[in-house]
Amino acid sequence: MARIEFENASKRYPNGYVALENLNLEIKDKEFVVLLGPSGCGKSTTLNMIAGLEEVTEGNLYFDDETVNFTPPHHRDVAMVFQSYALYPHKTVYENIAFGLVMRRHPRDDIDRRVRDAAQRLEITSLLDRRPGQLSGGQRQRVALGRAMVRRPAVFLMDEPLSNLDAALRISMRAEIKELHRSMQTTFVYVTHDQAEALTLADRIVVMRNGRVQQIGTPDEIYEHPANTFVASFLGSPPINYLAGELVVEGRKVTFVRGGIRLSFAPERASQLLAHNGRKVKLGIRAEDVDERDAPADGEVIAGTVASVLPVGSDQFLGMKVEGEELFFRVNKDMRHNYGDVIKLSANANRLHIFDAASEMSLIG
Ligand SMILES: Nc1ncnc2c1ncn2[C@@H]1O[C@H](COP(=O)(O)OP(=O)(O)O)[C@@H](O)[C@H]1O
Ligand SMILES: [Mg+2]
Repeated sequence: MARIEFENASKRYPNGYVALENLNLEIKDKEFVVLLGPSGCGKSTTLNMIAGLEEVTEGNLYFDDETVNFTPPHHRDVAMVFQSYALYPHKTVYENIAFGLVMRRHPRDDIDRRVRDAAQRLEITSLLDRRPGQLSGGQRQRVALGRAMVRRPAVFLMDEPLSNLDAALRISMRAEIKELHRSMQTTFVYVTHDQAEALTLADRIVVMRNGRVQQIGTPDEIYEHPANTFVASFLGSPPINYLAGELVVEGRKVTFVRGGIRLSFAPERASQLLAHNGRKVKLGIRAEDVDERDAPADGEVIAGTVASVLPVGSDQFLGMKVEGEELFFRVNKDMRHNYGDVIKLSANANRLHIFDAASEMSLIG
């Protein structure tokens, strides 16, 4: 059982670089938390602090209610899986999985039971006598997972464990990691720069940028209510579109205006924007939040010229020139459009995002 808490925690490397600034984060027992952000934002640093591989240079780190700032790694009851599998090339799969337990002098029959149980769950029983050189990348990563599993740690730490796998395997391994979390009933902290992976796996996502937390929330909260344009842009594919413009408040009605485009917000969103008449904003429209079929004659319409048509199997991405900007939407694949066609899409007024142009912070909660 392990609850993890960072309290005003910072990490300054010996060269003076601050890789993590004032992190406050509580990870609940058995929760699956994903640290998400671009390369260099401080994800591995944070994970390594939990593992005890990096010192907390300011603030506190707790496991349950104990401070662990100075607890060495082997007293923390954590197991870590890395992007590079770091297997011993001359040991068999069995010996690789067993190694940590052998070092800790577990009884031989207990080790055997744990190794076989992990191998069975990971479907690598038939590979136990092979050496890492005789395995595919996916199989090696399973061995690395097995090695962590047999330790039965209170906290499972994973640093981009799927990044070296090809796309199809990444997707099937995601499902397996989720199942692993369900069956192991332990706390998972998982690092990735892949937003789709984060959305699939996490109970909660911590979005990071330059050593600072941008937003913490469930996948739905982060996707539906991004706190700023960085978060909005980092999640979603193709990425969210922006149009710079101005808000006009008339009574209880709030409208975004940019040239010939006028989009009014649904009442719930509008009620949060009443104080912002005349404010310069960025409107955010996710690629999937438009519809062509029931575009009303004078409703929340986005009109423009088709600039590109990119079929992607299940649907298609439509590039559209709107007020001099190119926006990308995901539309039904049955829609037939040609370059240069003038079309109208209706925007889903319940799902429009609105950010202050200067601060880039969301104006709606
Ligand atoms: N030992 C170190 N000394 C100085 N700077 C470091 C050290 N390790 C990492 N950094 C810097 O800290 C920042 C965060 O690194 P890291 O946590 O590895 O990022 P991420 O895992 O999100 O890609 C990066 O700018 C990196 O260059
Ligand atoms: Mg990293």
